[in-house]
Amino acid sequence: MKPRVFSGMQPSGNLHIGNYLGALKNWVRIQSDYEAIFCIVDMHAVTVYQNPDELRAKIRELAALYLAAGIDPKQSTIMVQSAVPAHAELCWMLTCVTPVGWLQRMTQFKAKAAEQETVGDGLLQYPVLMAADILLYQAAIVPVGEDQTQHLELTRDIAQRFNSLYGETFVMPETSLPSVGARIMGLDDPTKKMSKSAPGSGHAVALLDPPATIRKKIMRATTDSAPGVDFDVLSPGVANLLGIFQAFSGWDDAQMRAHFSGMRYGELKKQVADMVIANLEPLQKRYNEIVSEKGYVDAVLREGAERVTPIANATVELVKRRMGLYTPC
Ligand code: TYM
Repeated sequence: MKPRVFSGMQPSGNLHIGNYLGALKNWVRIQSDYEAIFCIVDMHAVTVYQNPDELRAKIRELAALYLAAGIDPKQSTIMVQSAVPAHAELCWMLTCVTPVGWLQRMTQFKAKAAEQETVGDGLLQYPVLMAADILLYQAAIVPVGEDQTQHLELTRDIAQRFNSLYGETFVMPETSLPSVGARIMGLDDPTKKMSKSAPGSGHAVALLDPPATIRKKIMRATTDSAPGVDFDVLSPGVANLLGIFQAFSGWDDAQMRAHFSGMRYGELKKQVADMVIANLEPLQKRYNEIVSEKGYVDAVLREGAERVTPIANATVELVKRRMGLYTPC
């Protein structure tokens, strides 16, 4: 039996090249080596307010983007978190073994909480739900971008604590980061991670941005005042542009140095834009085909939920028995 992989994305905001290079591209690459489950984590999205109509649309858009990027629904499972109630059930059981202090220390909680007038309890419990997503399927590998590593460490801590209290129950999941592209930075401010929620039209390249928009955003990206690329003193903006090119192209470091050393920034940006457009155009074409096939995305999601429900329910049963909760004889 192949080891299991689990990962997910929130259906909030517009998916960008950071999400693609940090996670989605890696998912496509490894899907044939594993039994893969790729989730649309809508219950995570509602830890901050979402317009219900927009959320409904974004869930299907994200599923179509998974498919357009190359996730093969015959080989891998694409499913929505809220369609499998076991995610919420296991989350509750795990909250009972998770010290509040662990959650209050999470950097993403602190950053998100600082943006809210009132902090919902869901925002604090966010990483416990994430642990439940992963442990529910006894996933061995979790391919994510670098910003999720702290959540993954917490998942292992929660699993360990549960195992030591109630006996060996959960597989310890490993984090898998891409070698290039694990942390793509904002084009307008390369000291900040590219993010779905950051304001400003020059911050992120969305996967569904038209080619002209992509080019405009990249040509306006922040660099520095040096005349051209010097690999010995790369500023964050130039390093980010080179990282984007390298992650899309798959070139190694030697190829990158040979090609870009001394290149003027205008030409660098042009070549980065060409590379991003050449990769996103076929994805966008497939996306348009997928969404024009009425009912297709919903059928994939329905089948995905049906496929994983027995696995999820078996884990919940096991956890209930371990904890002494009621299970009918
Ligand atoms: P989310 O929706 O914020 O991001 C989805 C994936 O994209 C990666 N990512 C990035 N990678 C490189 N550069 C960036 N600038 C960048 N921004 C985002 C993220 O690391 C992530 O892999 N908590 C998760 C969703 C989640 C999950 C899970 C993931 C819920 N349950 C279980 C794995 C396993 C999140 O908010 O991802």
